[in-house]
Formats: sequence, structure tokens, C-alpha cells
Amino acid sequence: MKVENLREKYISFFESKGHKMIPSAPVVPENDPSVLFNTAGMQPLVPYLMGQPHPYGTRLCDYQKCMRTNDLDEVGDVTHHTFFEMLGNWSLGDYFKQDSITWSFELLTKVFEIPVERLAVTVFKGNDIVSADDESANIWRSLGISEKKIKFLGEDDNWWPNMELTGPCGPDTEIFYFRSDDDIPEEFDENDDRWVEIWNNVFMQYNHNEDGTFTELPKKNVDTGMGLERITSVLEGVTDNYMSSIFIDIIEKIEKISGLEYIGNEKAMRIIADHIRSAVFISADPAGIKPSNTDQGYILRRLIRRAIRYAKKLNIDINSNWEEILALAIIDKYSKYYPELEQNKNVVLDVLKSEKIKFNRTLEKGLKEFEKMVSKVENKKLDKDHAFRLYDTFGFPIELTVELANEMGIEVDEVGFAEKFKAHQEISRAGAKEKFKGGLASTGDLETKYHTATHLLNAALKELIGSDVHQRGSNITSERMRFDFSCDHKLTDEEKQNVENLVNKWIDEKYDVIKVEMKKEEAINSGAECMFIERYPDVVTVYKIGDVSAELCGGPHVKNTSDLSHIKIKKEEAVSAGVRRIKAVFVD
Ligand code: ALA
Repeated sequence: MKVENLREKYISFFESKGHKMIPSAPVVPENDPSVLFNTAGMQPLVPYLMGQPHPYGTRLCDYQKCMRTNDLDEVGDVTHHTFFEMLGNWSLGDYFKQDSITWSFELLTKVFEIPVERLAVTVFKGNDIVSADDESANIWRSLGISEKKIKFLGEDDNWWPNMELTGPCGPDTEIFYFRSDDDIPEEFDENDDRWVEIWNNVFMQYNHNEDGTFTELPKKNVDTGMGLERITSVLEGVTDNYMSSIFIDIIEKIEKISGLEYIGNEKAMRIIADHIRSAVFISADPAGIKPSNTDQGYILRRLIRRAIRYAKKLNIDINSNWEEILALAIIDKYSKYYPELEQNKNVVLDVLKSEKIKFNRTLEKGLKEFEKMVSKVENKKLDKDHAFRLYDTFGFPIELTVELANEMGIEVDEVGFAEKFKAHQEISRAGAKEKFKGGLASTGDLETKYHTATHLLNAALKELIGSDVHQRGSNITSERMRFDFSCDHKLTDEEKQNVENLVNKWIDEKYDVIKVEMKKEEAINSGAECMFIERYPDVVTVYKIGDVSAELCGGPHVKNTSDLSHIKIKKEEAVSAGVRRIKAVFVD
């Protein structure tokens, strides 16, 4: 039975408990070079879990776009996905175990109407940092969870994220649901996979420092996460996530396109549905990711190419517009919750189509080449040179070669490939590193100068192009600045020249750059520029440059515009619908 409006039900439940809904952050994190994608709802909230006040208060909830790609190759079974949505609620030093557990229980049993007998929980059994979590166990008992369905487990199960990763962390309590028509056992068994985890409540009270030590966070927080795909299939009574209302219409589209049934072709159809959905979300993200051979672009490329290969297995005519039909269905389905999909529809379709054309051009030849190679293979092992040739000449991501080879019982020299790959990638890797520098993370002299120059550029664009120009992103290296802004047209040569001239005039006018602390509201009312207002604390830092610019910003900046050289705009291009990008450098 289809469950309607689960996101809304979740949010309104937590709103009734005093929570504020925050918007989903982009799937590609801003200013966090440690990860390629948001992997959990809490990721965009790290600064607030660490103690910074959140502008929306101490009780938050949301549904967040997430991507986990470490088990990309497992997609194809009934539960794995690359993209997924996480429902989450947070206490930033507000309520703790009692309310968190009680509300989770209330939502599951009263709103979602799950019978108590189908639930079991695990709690932390203790280590040398924190003792056994009897408090949580007692709360569960008081709510009616029977003794045998409360299990104390160790660090591997009940510490999130784990003992290795640095950052905010803590013991957790996990909630399981018995998903089977079999009689419900009296005792919970974590090794019995009829018990599926549906919700994780983390009591985030520690920071795992770089030096390996754990220190208490300034406040005790709660971080919870419930996978939307999982809870939907539980509530709809299906054991295969792809048969839930989240995926079934996409699967039906694939059945129609291929003329085949889902039964008997599950793996290929699941991979196509999952990967195209992820590719849609990545390419619609404001970060403007395009298929490439590094970082997020490489993941995007792998997803599209793997989907194409499985479409081919289903004998889908690759040259038809199959990927467009699927992407449009996905955009249609999700735009209500993520309007960027509709806004960037053309970008998404373009990304999919051009990558398809690119791959398709060599896929056929590559597969022939692969077959030739494996027919000559010795010791059931494909060597690094062959694997590299498939990558370099035919555009086969190594994972694709490995997957093809494994299907034939052949191993690939992945280590050798990696070495060869590294040698060839050194240059673009250096580029990838550069990409993550910049913004607030950089403090070098040149970066600081470029950073101040972006404020001038922002102000000049606003003055000359229109007051509706707003910053959409920026990235700075010691060699150039890159600035993304909202604008509905390609700048004319004249416009570019005028913007450049105005910035350079301001530089010549020797304005002081002054840092002021003020209340957020006051800053906004005074017209200070700001990219993501909801992410700033109540008291903010504003950098003022003479009377030409005022922006909320963490700095650092030069003291006076005379410290800057003149700028030259090198490039102006589209990033996505309604967003343009300027690259500029200092010239003298
Ligand atoms: N951050 C926790 C998780 O992802 C809730 O499971």
C-alpha cells in the first residue's frame, strides 16, 4: 500500500515538538573538502554540532539529499542505493535521550502505526570513553520494549560514525523493525537479517580530535537519521526497496522502454533506476558538476556509464532517448521537494546525453577489445596495461573493467592499474587539490587578495548588471578567482569591460576594508550581501569596503583595496540555468 507524504508527516511531527525545518543542503558540500558528497543529514550541520549557534535555534529537522558511493558496486540488490534521502531531527544542546527516544517511539508507533512487537533496539554497552547506556535502555523499557528486544552492543554497532573518523561523534541507539511474515521472535538477533535497522539516534557529545583523543563537545547534541527509502518500503510492506512507491514508477518506465519484465531482470533495472536518479541529482546540484576523471565528476561519469552498460544488457537502444524519459520522470517526481531539478532540467538532460554520446562512441569497440583481451588472458588475470588501455582509449572506468572481468571469473591487476593511472593523473590531481583550496579555507597572501577582489566583483556586478545578481559560489586559488552568480544572460563584452573597470577603479580609490560584528538581522536590513542566510549565526561578521560593498563573510581580507592589483576577466560562462561563472586574474 502506497504511503503518501512521508516527508511531510515526519516534518510536521517534529514541528509539533518545537523543531524548525531547515532546507536540504546541496548534495555536494560547500567548503568541506573532506568529503565528495553529503553522506548523512548531519554533515552540513557539523559547525553547529561543534557549538556554533544555529540561526534556526536548537531544534531542527529536515530531509537531506545524501550520496554514499563506497558500496556503489553493491547497488543491484534490494536495499543498496547511491543517492538516498535522510530524514533527520537534531537537538543542539537542547533535549537529550529522554525526549529523543520518546519522540522516535511515538512517531513510529502512533503516526506510522508500527506495532510495538515489531520493534527492537540496540544501545551502547560502553567502552573506556563512556559507560554502558543504561539510561537509554531504561527509557526503552519504560516505553514497553521487552527486555529481550533491548540489546547492548559495542563500538562497531553503537558508536557513530565509528571510532576512526574524526569530528563529532558519540554512542547511539538503533531501532530495528522485523520485516517478515514469519512469527516475530521473542528475542532480537542482530545477525538475523529479517530485523532491519530503520532509525539511528546518535547522542553526539564528543569530538574525535586529529590527535586521536576524544573531548566533550560544548553541548550534548542529538543527531538522528532515518533513510527515506528504507522506511517507505517497511511501511508499504515490501522487501525490495525498488518495489516501493519511491521506485516502482521508474522501474515500470524501464520495463516499458526495454519491453522486458522486472522479474528476471532485477539487477539491471535496479542499477539503471538508481544510477540515473543519482546522476540527475548530482548534475542538478548548484555545484555544477560535469562528468570528468576526478572527484565528483568521476563518480558521475561512472554512474552514467554503468547505467548505459546495463541498459545495453536489456537490449535498450542506447541511441534512443531512454535516459531522457527516465530523467524527466525523476525530475517530475522530485521537483516538489527539490526545485533545483526543474530549474536545471536542461543541464541535467544535457549532461546525460553528452556523456551517453561520448561513451557510446567507444563502448562497442571497447567491448570487442575487451573480449579479445580476455580470450588471450593468462592465469585468469588481466594485466595493468590492458586495463589501462580500456580506460584510456575506450573510456572504461576501471570499475567497469573489473565488473566485466569478474563476470567471466577473471581478475584485474587493479594495483598495477592504480599506479599507471596515478602517473597519468598527477596533473589533474594537482588540479583537484587546488579546487578544494580557496574560500574560507585559504589564508595565503594571494588567496586573501583574491578573496577581497570577489567582494568587489560581486558589488560591481550588482551595480552594473542588476540588484538581483547574487553570489552562488566562489572558489579561489593562488592563480585565479572564480565567482558564480545568478544572472539570466551571457554578459556582453561591454558589460564585462564595465565590470572590470569599476572593480579596478575601486581598487585605485584605496578603500579601507573594515570588519564589523553585528546582529544578523541588522546586517541583512542594512543590505549586506549574503549567500546562505539561514546558515549564519545570530551575530555575524560583515566586511565593509568603503561604501561600495558590505558582505557577511568569515574573511580573511586585505586591509585596503590598494593592496590589490588590477583584475582582468578571463572567462564568462554558464554553470547551470540562471547561473554564470566569471574567472578573473590579477594583471599587474
Ligand atoms: N548521522 C547518523 C547516521 O547517519 C544519524 O546514521
